[in-house]
Order: sequence, then C-alpha cells, then structure tokens
Amino acid sequence: MNLFNVYPLFNITPSHAKMCYVYDTEGNKYLDLYGGHAVISVGHSHPTYIKNMNSQLNKIGFYSNYIINDLQNKVANEIIKQSGCDDYKIFFSNSGAEANENALQIASFHTNKSKIIAFKNSFHGRSNASLSVTDNEKIKSLLNKQIDVKFIDFNNKIKFLDEISKGDVCAVIFESIQGVGGLDQPDTEFVKYISKQCKIHNTCLIADEVQSGFGRSGDFFAFQKHNISPDIICIAKGMGNGFPVGGVLIKSHIKSHLGMLGTTFGGNHLACSAVLSVLEIIKKENLINNSKLIEKYFRKKISSIKSVKKIKGRGLMLGLEFDFEAADLRKKLIFKHKIFTGGSANKNLLRILPPLNIEKKDIDILYNALKIELS
Ligand SMILES: Cc1ncc(COP(=O)(O)O)c(C=O)c1O
Repeated sequence: MNLFNVYPLFNITPSHAKMCYVYDTEGNKYLDLYGGHAVISVGHSHPTYIKNMNSQLNKIGFYSNYIINDLQNKVANEIIKQSGCDDYKIFFSNSGAEANENALQIASFHTNKSKIIAFKNSFHGRSNASLSVTDNEKIKSLLNKQIDVKFIDFNNKIKFLDEISKGDVCAVIFESIQGVGGLDQPDTEFVKYISKQCKIHNTCLIADEVQSGFGRSGDFFAFQKHNISPDIICIAKGMGNGFPVGGVLIKSHIKSHLGMLGTTFGGNHLACSAVLSVLEIIKKENLINNSKLIEKYFRKKISSIKSVKKIKGRGLMLGLEFDFEAADLRKKLIFKHKIFTGGSANKNLLRILPPLNIEKKDIDILYNALKIELS
C-alpha cells in the first residue's frame, strides 16, 4: 500500500536525533532550527524525558478517562505554577486542532451562540471547526464552510466592533504570534480592546497558544505580553516534545456538565508523563529565559546580514523576511548546509522554531550559511 500523497517530501530519512541535531540514514547531521514544526521544545531525546517516559511505560501507559488519572492533576498544578494562570481548569486532547475544536465547542455551549470571529492569515488546524476559522481557502472543503466565521484584520477595531456588536458571536479566536501565517502580531492595544469587548458581549476569547505556548515566545504564553486573561487557552505542540498531546485551559466561570466533552486518548498516562517531563526540563534548565537570550543574540547577529529585510516574531518563534521568495534558500540550507528551517504562507519568509535549549553557537552556524548564500 502507498501513502496518501499530501506532503511535498524532502528526500531525507532521519535515523536518530539528539537535542538540537537530527541525523539521517546517510550519516548526515542536521541542525534543527524547525523543531519538527515547533514541537521539539526541550530537545530531541532529552535524557530526563527518556528516563521519565521509560519509567511511566513500565508502570502504566494508558487507561481511559473513566477512572482517576492523578497525573492529570499534577500537569494542571505544574502549568498553574509555571504560567501563573491559576483560575483555569484543564481538558486534555491529542493535538492542536482538537484543542481548538474543543475550545470552540465550549464557547458555543457556554454562550448558546454560534458565530465566530477569526483573523486574516490565521491557521488553527485541520479538523472541521479549526479549518473553518483558518484563513486559507485552498485547504477548506465545503464542510468547513458551514460554520459562520468572519475574518478581520488585526488591529481593525472598527470592523471588530461592527461584528461583535451584532450579539451573535460565541468566540473570538486569535494567535498572539501567527505561526503558519507568517509571524504577524496584533498590537497590545487591540488585544486589550478585543478582550474588553468579549466581556461586554458575552463572547469567549480563545487564545490559540498551540505553537507559541510553553515558553517559546519568551513568556510561558505569548498572550501574557498583553496582560489579558483569555476565557480559553489552547495548548499542544511543544507541550509534549513530540508525544501527541494537547488541551484547553478553561476559565473557572465557564461551567462543565457531565458528557459535555470527551476523548479516548486525551490526557493518558504516557501523555501526562511527557508534559510533566517538558515542564520539569523547562524549569530546571531555565528555558524560557534562554528563549529570550537567544532571541537577542539572533537579532543582533542575523540583522547584520543585508538581505534580511525584517526579523519577525518573538522568543524562539522567529521569521526572516526577504524581498525574494525563500523556497530556494530553504532548500540550500537543508541540502548544502544541513540546516532545517520552516516555510510559511508568506513565501518571502523563513521560519525559525528551534528547541528552546539551542545555543549561540548554533545561531552562528545559520549566520555563516546565510552569509555564504546571500552575499
Ligand atoms: C497556531 C496553531 N494552531 C493549531 C495548529 C494545529 O495543530 P495540530 O497540527 O497539532 O493539530 C497549529 C499547527 O501548526 C498551529 O500552528
């Protein structure tokens, strides 16, 4: 049987990986500035992660959510401790799309409304409601167009007020730093404004932190820069460092009822062990601080290259913008210099999403490669 052909594959087969490096079956060593799409947060095959996961597997890997799994409470408490978001409850899922799907479902249950406001250039995943709030017609089927969604530009208060004032909006969903869309960010003033308007109009504000969460932005959550408290926070990706796990943090004024949500795999023992390992490593190795330090170094070093027009994003969720399409450069970085980077909906942009324990010397490797290719 062949694979259903949906990915444009690079001809590389990894055999193993260690911290910020991936090795292939041909004996090549690649610097991973992509983190498997912002997933590898604490480094590939981190010894603490391996030890904890092995030990958990030797106890119990999975049981369903109809009996108590105390590891889920441990995850919740550690997220509260590290993020400072203490007025929330957690529901686990297996991916970012599912987290957003659940968030929208909760918002609709809570408000008894169904319209959604999302933003231009957004990406929220590949399930039905997540695709409906994603601003990319090419990946939507007719099914995803059944939900009533209004797309608005970041920072357009007038259009936003126009829509939310109609009173039929259950949720506003936004990325504090757009990932797939190309690293654009709303202004703090606008984020505070939409947060206030959501409260006035009985609308849930959903922060999609699937890509930017768990320290990647230099704060535990990227929305924290704006000093707001969303009604629902969606998490996944770096949360499990490669183990498929996601979830929603739900503010305590939103009430649950039995049977409201459900999942077979979400929050299983092994998933919780992955999240607890990630949180343990983030704390022990001070990785949120490292995100900020390396961002500073990155900006100083890379901005000295003339053809880099702009460095977008925050922490270790960065984009290099050029005034030419970046696809060829990305290929050269992979095949000639052995450096993984990411593309984006903005064709002139290269995305940098490394493990959070990356070092300055790794940034120097990118700098030297860009110097060769761009001068
Ligand atoms: C902001 C954001 N939300 C949701 C998703 C979907 O996550 P997943 O692929 O785990 O379903 C992504 C994936 O890139 C994302 O960047």
